[in-house]
Amino acid sequence: MRALILALILAAPVAAQDIPSRDDGLAAWDEIFAVTSHPRCTNCHVGDAGVPMWNGLIYGSDTVHGMHVQAGESRVGAETMACRTCHISAQSDNATPHAPPMIDDAWRLPPTELAWLGKTSDKVCAQLRNPDTNDGFAMDELATHLETSLFVAWGFAPGAGRDEPPGTLDDMVVALKLWAAAGTPCAANP
Ligand code: HEC
Ligand code: HEC
Repeated sequence: MRALILALILAAPVAAQDIPSRDDGLAAWDEIFAVTSHPRCTNCHVGDAGVPMWNGLIYGSDTVHGMHVQAGESRVGAETMACRTCHISAQSDNATPHAPPMIDDAWRLPPTELAWLGKTSDKVCAQLRNPDTNDGFAMDELATHLETSLFVAWGFAPGAGRDEPPGTLDDMVVALKLWAAAGTPCAANP
């Protein structure tokens, strides 16, 4: 009986005042987009041409990765020159300027449905709330998952004089949870 009562309490709908408003949700989305549109993230989150960017380094904007690097369909450069030829899979503090960044995972581009480079806030908003285009995550899982992604961790601590996206990873996780609780609103559509 106690278990039943507990289950009923847990299943009770959240009080209306606990649900963040659409405006709060949109403000949280703006914070998320300020990160996902930053070169530290969009340099990898590129489309099916498979060319990573050096945008946001000293080379100026709209600069593609040097040495004609192509990720190919494999997204790891298997067809031409593997990313790992230079971006060795090893933990590193990435302290040397202009050395290839390294993490303890195979350096690679995300699947093309996660391409964000040059896209509007509304486009990326619609992508990230849809499991078909966010790598298969329900919103609550996505927030938790980001805390364990080595790519995201590197983006917030890239080392070697590279600038970082605004805020911290914790701020981003809080914003994602708030956006999710508000029903993942995007400005152009519900
Ligand atoms: C070195 C390339 C690289 C960089 C830089 C990068 N990502 Fe990613 N990202 C990936 C890959 C690859 C995936 C696909 C999942 C996987 O293979 O781990 C991914 C997936 C994601 C996903 C979908 C959920 C998931 O992890 O599968 C989100 C959200 C994300 N990245 C956010 C970011 C943010 C925010 C930044 C900047 C702080 C960033 N990424 C920087 C490569 C990168
Ligand atoms: C021949 C060596 C080499 C190969 C192969 C290579 N890279 Fe790089 N990469 C570099 C170097 C060097 C830098 C740093 C450039 C600088 O800071 O001036 C770099 C930087 C980057 C950056 C910029 C990180 C940032 O946001 O500051 C990304 C993204 C990147 N590489 C992705 C890739 C991907 C994806 C592949 C495989 C498809 C790849 N690279 C293959 C040498 C390489």
